Amino acid sequence: MNGHGELADQAAARVAALFRRNPRATIALPTGATPRGMYERLVVLHRAGEFSCRDGRFFNLDEFVGLAPHSPCSYAAYVRRHFLGRIDADPAGIRLLRGDAPDLDAECRAYDRAIEAAGGIDLAILGLGRNGHVAFNEPGGDWQSTTHRVTLAESTRRAQRQQFPNGEAVPRQGLTMGLRTIREARALLLLVAGAGKEAGLAALRAGRPDANWPVTALLDHADLVVLADRAGVNAGGPLDELAG
Ligand code: GLP
Repeated sequence: MNGHGELADQAAARVAALFRRNPRATIALPTGATPRGMYERLVVLHRAGEFSCRDGRFFNLDEFVGLAPHSPCSYAAYVRRHFLGRIDADPAGIRLLRGDAPDLDAECRAYDRAIEAAGGIDLAILGLGRNGHVAFNEPGGDWQSTTHRVTLAESTRRAQRQQFPNGEAVPRQGLTMGLRTIREARALLLLVAGAGKEAGLAALRAGRPDANWPVTALLDHADLVVLADRAGVNAGGPLDELAG
């Protein structure tokens, strides 16, 4: 795949096709620079009448501890700004992590229960951190984890400055869906774009689970699709194609 536009087109086409097949699909939404193009395309497809999200269920992958959903820097605000606020999603079908919950452990447990009550996740759309993280599952984290609180790597905090355009302090902790929850999703769509992702992609291509590279926890998933935008390192399509 040569450019970010193609990655966005392919990712959006897959999500739209899922909603056409299963209007009640439950999806997990990523943030960061990578998925913005996909969200743009999805809004266009939605406005063209290609699919509806009215009966869909939506979760986000992660959130910063301490940020309320209405904080413009929160991931909740991001997914509403770029996607959920621009389509016909029913507010009753949207459950986003509360980084400002008074009891964060209780919030994590409630989140897992809400995912379970939705019948699990049909499609988790994921980005890749430069250190191999997925959602906020940092290197060395527990691969059996459900939703939990994490201390963010300094490199993750630096990379996230884009989310804090007015120089607000980047929180030191986050809440994240755990790798177990993510792996339990029926399908995974991993989007890889932007500079500095080569090492993470190389770990994936090596095809061996490696605790230093959380993204390799996805390798044994039965329905993992990787779309990457870098010519030469990318094959797009199913992982075995990418890893082959
Ligand atoms: C953050 C998010 C991740 C995302 C990553 C990559 O750490 N918590 O879910 O995958 O950023 O971001 P970008 O797409 O900007 O490279």
